[in-house]
Amino acid sequence: MSLREYLRESGFANIYRYIVSSRHYAVTPFAVNAATRGAVLATDTYLEGELEGRRLLWTLFAHATLPREALTARERDLAAELAEAGLLHTDGAGDHDVVAPGDWQLICVGDNTLFVDAAIAFPRRERMHEVYIGPDTLLLLHYLDAPRLPRGARVLDLCTGSGVIGLDAARAASRVVSTDIADKPLFIAPVNRDLNARGDTIEVRREAVADTLRADETWDLVTCNPPFIATPPELAAPIYARGPGRDGCDMMRDILAALDRILAPGGACLMVADILGDDRHPCFLAELREAARSFAVEVYIDQKLPIAGHIDAMSHILARENPALDPSAVAARTREFLAGELAARHVYLCVIRVRRGAPGLLVLDRYRAA
Ligand SMILES: C[S@@+](CC[C@H](N)C(=O)[O-])C[C@H]1O[C@@H](n2cnc3c(N)ncnc32)[C@H](O)[C@@H]1O
Repeated sequence: MSLREYLRESGFANIYRYIVSSRHYAVTPFAVNAATRGAVLATDTYLEGELEGRRLLWTLFAHATLPREALTARERDLAAELAEAGLLHTDGAGDHDVVAPGDWQLICVGDNTLFVDAAIAFPRRERMHEVYIGPDTLLLLHYLDAPRLPRGARVLDLCTGSGVIGLDAARAASRVVSTDIADKPLFIAPVNRDLNARGDTIEVRREAVADTLRADETWDLVTCNPPFIATPPELAAPIYARGPGRDGCDMMRDILAALDRILAPGGACLMVADILGDDRHPCFLAELREAARSFAVEVYIDQKLPIAGHIDAMSHILARENPALDPSAVAARTREFLAGELAARHVYLCVIRVRRGAPGLLVLDRYRAA
């Protein structure tokens, strides 16, 4: 039995939906995390007899360690295959024989079931997560509106991470190319593609954005949740976070600059980013105004947060990434860089859509009146 068959037979997607609706999750992809896990594991009480043949799910999505004897023979075989594939652990022999969670957690996003880095929802002292997925990912999917993509569209998903955006686009697209350069995304994105039976549609490529943008292919849709965080250049930062360029926006600049060549007639590009800004605007807006002389540009400002909170969050991450440095020195340098050198006062979570069409700029900014 394949994992795909097991998930279908056990009704995983609806069990997950049920947990999601009972936990009211809307803005993060994680219904089950270190804080909610206890309550989720307690679903045993209302599932009672329904668990037989479904217990392995609890290891995959709620990080439960189970004695192998709790599993059916089919689940045990599947667990052995998943351990072989590096997706969970089986351990010991005889009395201590257990099936335990590994580095990956199974979640559902929309119609897709996928493995994501377990260190996001279950933080670990020994390692930061290496594959990103977060609220900005869901925001991009919200605007992507995959079911309304033209049938047969050709989609390029740059910086694919878990592959979730390419997977969603594949609901309508005939061809999706998903690219990344880091090892962990390039391990899990093909696993997720195959788990959702999209092998015929999605090609996962190890390719840097700069190389993809130089190639001769054209696309109906280009999607990207790029690394966009501005970080002091001398500090180490996660590859999924550090945006190239001083303000973190250079990857978006490179994409904008290539659009006229890589967008097919009628094509569009959809990006999401936290962009630094002053009290009134994200800094990148002036460049988008320029792009709006040739393209139809839409900017949806979803969130505007004071820079202080962003500095605190970044200081925490950068302190973990630079363990040889004093955490308070890392925090001071991060503050000096963001609030001093870059004069940032706020960070703006923006979805940017750039499409061929009548040139012009639309900015939806619910903070404008504030
Ligand atoms: C913010 S994450 C987005 C992941 C995923 N698209 C999502 O929205 O959940 C950025 C991703 O870009 C990848 N990346 C960083 N630099 C890259 C480059 N030069 N070319 C291609 N991918 C890159 C990282 O490995 C990471 O997976």
